[in-house]
Amino acid sequence: MIAQKKETFLKDYQPPAYLVDRVDLRIELDAQSTLVQSRLLCRPNQQTKKPLVLNGKRLEVVQVALNGSVLTRNRFTFTDGLLTIAHVPAEPFEVAVTTRINPAENTALEGLYLSSGNYCTQCEPEGFRTITCFPDRPDVMSVFTTTVIGDKTSCPVLLANGNLMASGDLDDGRHYATWHDPFPKPSYLFALVAGDLVRISDTFTTRSGRTVALHIYVEARNRDKCGHAMRSLKKAMRWDEEHFGREYDLDLYMIVAVDDFNMGAMENKGLNVFNSKYVLALPETATDADYEGIEAVIAHEYFHNWTGNRITCRDWFQLSLKEGLTVFRDQEFTADMSSRPVKRIEDVNIIRSLQFREDSGPMAHPVRPPSFVEINNFYTLTVYNKGAEVIRMLFTLLGAETFRQGMDIYFDRHDGQAVTCDDFVAAMETAWGKDLSQFKRWYSQAGTPELTVTGHYSAADQQFILEIEQSCPPTRESVVKEPFFMPIAIGLLDENGNALPVNTDAGTGTDTDTKMLILSEQRQQYFFPNITSKPTVSFLRNFSAPVKVHHAQSEEELHRLMTHDTDPFNRWEAGQTLSLRHILEQIANFQHQQPISIRHRLVRGLRDFLLDTDLDPAFTAMAVTLPTENWIGQQMTIIDPVAIFSVRQQFRAQIGLQLRDELLQRYHDLTGDIPYQYNAVEAARRTLRNTCLAYLLAPEIGGRLTPELLQLGTEQYQRSDNMTDSIAALGCVVNADAAAGAALLADFYTKWQHDPLVVDKWLALQAGCSLPGTLEHVKNLTGHASFSIKNPNKVRALIATFCATNHNQFHAADGHGYCFLGDQVIRLDPLNPQIAARMLTPLTQWRRYDPTRQQMMCEQLERIRRQPLVSDDVQEVVDRSLQ
Ligand code: ARG
Ligand code: ZN
Repeated sequence: MIAQKKETFLKDYQPPAYLVDRVDLRIELDAQSTLVQSRLLCRPNQQTKKPLVLNGKRLEVVQVALNGSVLTRNRFTFTDGLLTIAHVPAEPFEVAVTTRINPAENTALEGLYLSSGNYCTQCEPEGFRTITCFPDRPDVMSVFTTTVIGDKTSCPVLLANGNLMASGDLDDGRHYATWHDPFPKPSYLFALVAGDLVRISDTFTTRSGRTVALHIYVEARNRDKCGHAMRSLKKAMRWDEEHFGREYDLDLYMIVAVDDFNMGAMENKGLNVFNSKYVLALPETATDADYEGIEAVIAHEYFHNWTGNRITCRDWFQLSLKEGLTVFRDQEFTADMSSRPVKRIEDVNIIRSLQFREDSGPMAHPVRPPSFVEINNFYTLTVYNKGAEVIRMLFTLLGAETFRQGMDIYFDRHDGQAVTCDDFVAAMETAWGKDLSQFKRWYSQAGTPELTVTGHYSAADQQFILEIEQSCPPTRESVVKEPFFMPIAIGLLDENGNALPVNTDAGTGTDTDTKMLILSEQRQQYFFPNITSKPTVSFLRNFSAPVKVHHAQSEEELHRLMTHDTDPFNRWEAGQTLSLRHILEQIANFQHQQPISIRHRLVRGLRDFLLDTDLDPAFTAMAVTLPTENWIGQQMTIIDPVAIFSVRQQFRAQIGLQLRDELLQRYHDLTGDIPYQYNAVEAARRTLRNTCLAYLLAPEIGGRLTPELLQLGTEQYQRSDNMTDSIAALGCVVNADAAAGAALLADFYTKWQHDPLVVDKWLALQAGCSLPGTLEHVKNLTGHASFSIKNPNKVRALIATFCATNHNQFHAADGHGYCFLGDQVIRLDPLNPQIAARMLTPLTQWRRYDPTRQQMMCEQLERIRRQPLVSDDVQEVVDRSLQ
């Protein structure tokens, strides 16, 4: 079977035949039968006369009129998602379309739908066409006026983009509100919200002195949970003024939190719609990670107002133009709000554990994909996170000041336009005064470049030569890769760990012990004169390019970097490399049924990090954490999930045992005595303390903990005044002792069953449990009262946590994990294709496993493909995986 929807290609891009200058919408809300009347002021965009073609999907066309006269059925067609009017005037004309839609049966959560009885919309990327017929593409930008009509009792709140122009009662128990957004925008930024919501208000004064009203809308039960979101919004608004000179443009900024949402949040102009996970927080219900996530997502959506809304994408192939850039901006914001090195490490973990995997699998695509079947499948780690790395490389190459000039040029040149990634790079070229055409290969070539690094030291010449060779594995869009252009930040250390002067020409680097090398050839040599002894190379500082590195360094060198490198990222990285080596060595032992042991030297290295109280505790927590199972798997030709889990777990247990005194000491020293507060310092303290606890409670496989240690976890759970500490302790106990865990889980559920976001944590904790028997438990939980397959957060908490993070049990040799995922995707696909396609990710990786697992994984993919009605979303992922 082939995909029903055909592939769309970037090379086929054509400008729109007609533009729409104005849209007037009148939307009469009704759960089963919402009537949408739309009037479009259209204008030809080309000389040649073409039919007017509007997109329309999952809706009923009630009436079409042209310049005021109703068209009979022979004057237009409506098939295959297109409404076509063959003959339209050569001058501007008005088209009026009336459609009828059914929000209540919209389980795909795309377009207009109901969440907890309230109406909301999600139009990016192609959801607007399910509301009304429209040229639903981002290069058609219009001024929207929206009248929302709804029942006064069930929908006291009626919202749309922009400013409120009029509102009032109708005589049939309904009321209306008319909203006007003066900024032309593509249809994907349209939003409507209506329902029974309460409003939390604040204001922000922009740097030019304008007052902006800030409104957060939530269900009444969540009224007291919006403080952190509101503070985050104000911080983000100030930060964008200070760092990018960007001010907010409307008089009103609204955020609405809904429980049913496919993604994190959506930047609709003036009316963001958020997954409630990224709005609601109280110390008792949300963890430090949640607080940080809220701050980051609020900032992300706010930053889109300039990078996404004022300047938008010409077409969806350019998605990274707004997403990569906005992720870069939110990463910088978070770095300024908390710890810059720790934030960098977290982001690199995502890139290496998840994006590299995507980039080497069947869904690999360039940051600017050349084609797609279903664009929803391309809201990926590559477009978002690798896209942000590409922006970061520009930032590193140009330096902060020149990069900022480039941004200013970009905003000046393109405000109000729908543009391409080329336009962005062109602005940077203007600022830099250098050619970036080779750099643009990052946008067109997929796959992760691999660097092989060798050093040659000549004592006689007092010279060090560094040689770098780059290559990139073939991917779907290009088998042969041209060399990439990238910044490589390096330092050299002498045998005592002191920095050697490398930055003789004082280039772009801000410090003198870091040199910014440019790699542009397939193989290149770099010469360092006046080096008096064989240096240790600190390579790719701060992860200056998203690449894999092959660099044979001795353990001595890695230890030197771990203790002395001035680049915090590489201090952490050296520790990770060392751990990785030892883990891989023991994995080989495990596979040959040899006993596993942890080397003393590694434990000592971790101990040094642990006891160094000069370090930021959040950094220490990262430094003592072993490489992720995903990242370990990346190093193996055939991923052996059982061996990876077993060795890593055994290491954790051994570290817990061998460093028990030190861990306990730090655990107690880090105990806070003030009530919970979310701030970087306090969060860092809790992170390290809970990292210590997790080591102390890490059981040997099949082993049991001492009652005293279990008690330590139980006590923290019972005494804590905040979710961060209670869920961390609960997790430790659940993963250490089934009986003790079950008792605490029951207590937790009784306490929190009324709070959906906390119940998500309860589900995820059980799905991630590393003790045997988790799959059966997860299957039972799919029938639990708290679970709903229609709610994406629940599906992610239970099903995705098990299938995408519990590798050991998902990949169990009997294949039951695969079968479970197959069942769930089949169940989910007719309801919510976007989420179903995302759930498939673990199965797409089948080529990385042994032949038996490969076969069982493929069987599930085949089985999914054989279903009578497979969505385009799922079809595309399955087809690419089996190709
Ligand atoms: N633009 C949103 C964001 O990154 C993501 C919305 C994507 N939605 C979707 N259904 N694919 O902030
Ligand atoms: Zn975004």
